[in-house]
Amino acid sequence: MNVRNAILAIAAGALTFVSQISLSDSDHDGRKRSKGGMFERSADVAPVNNATYAKECGECHFAYQPGLLPERSWQKILDGLSNHFGDNAELAADKRQEIMKYLAENSAEHSSFRRSEKIMRSIENKATPMRITEIRYIQTRHYEVPARLIKGNDKVRSLSNCSACHTRADQGSYSEGEVKIPGAARWGDD
Ligand code: HEC
Ligand code: HEC
Repeated sequence: MNVRNAILAIAAGALTFVSQISLSDSDHDGRKRSKGGMFERSADVAPVNNATYAKECGECHFAYQPGLLPERSWQKILDGLSNHFGDNAELAADKRQEIMKYLAENSAEHSSFRRSEKIMRSIENKATPMRITEIRYIQTRHYEVPARLIKGNDKVRSLSNCSACHTRADQGSYSEGEVKIPGAARWGDD
């Protein structure tokens, strides 16, 4: 290694070090320290990382991240798949078991991502919500979105359709600044 390359390598090392320090207290913008001590990409809830879940539970709608509901809600949903919001979403026993294990291990109370924590805090101990959209935290975040942009909007239809408006929903990111409601001005501009 010549002198110039050696200096460049040291500088790159120092930069990496500085950027890690400056991120170290950035919990409030969603970055979390992973087990290895490195930072995952900014995300509000952990992204889906189970292929069986993504396929089976992403067939009719957006594959909701496990961190959006408590374990008891996922259990109740998986116990009632033969009548799932009016649809039959039954699964073979082995797939159902794999999915339940994945959901339980990554449910809101088992996640340290900030939205999962807020979701847990807004659900009463005795309550078992069957929908993310009935959770108080999620409802209050959408009070300002008029019905004409949801039910009255052919490209959205339902608040359950997260990914229609949240452009990075599939990555577990729901920041206000990333919202684009189809057919409407950018959120916050009007
Ligand atoms: C056959 C189609 C179908 C499949 C497969 C399916 N769902 Fe659904 N799911 C629906 C419908 C229909 C609704 C109601 C949507 C609405 O009201 O807009 C729904 C709603 C939901 C909701 C509530 C969303 C909200 O409003 O907050 C959750 C959670 C959910 N499904 C989880 C699952 C899980 C977990 C699986 C996999 C085991 C699954 N779904 C598979 C059809 C399906
Ligand atoms: C019709 C479009 C639309 C749909 C569908 C929608 N959202 Fe939103 N969401 C918004 C808008 C707009 C905001 C910002 C609201 C505000 O500024 O008051 C928002 C805000 C949020 C926030 C708070 C963001 C922040 O920066 O604090 C979260 C979390 C969120 N949505 C999650 C969800 C989830 C989960 C779903 C699906 C179950 C969903 N949203 C479905 C439009 C939508």
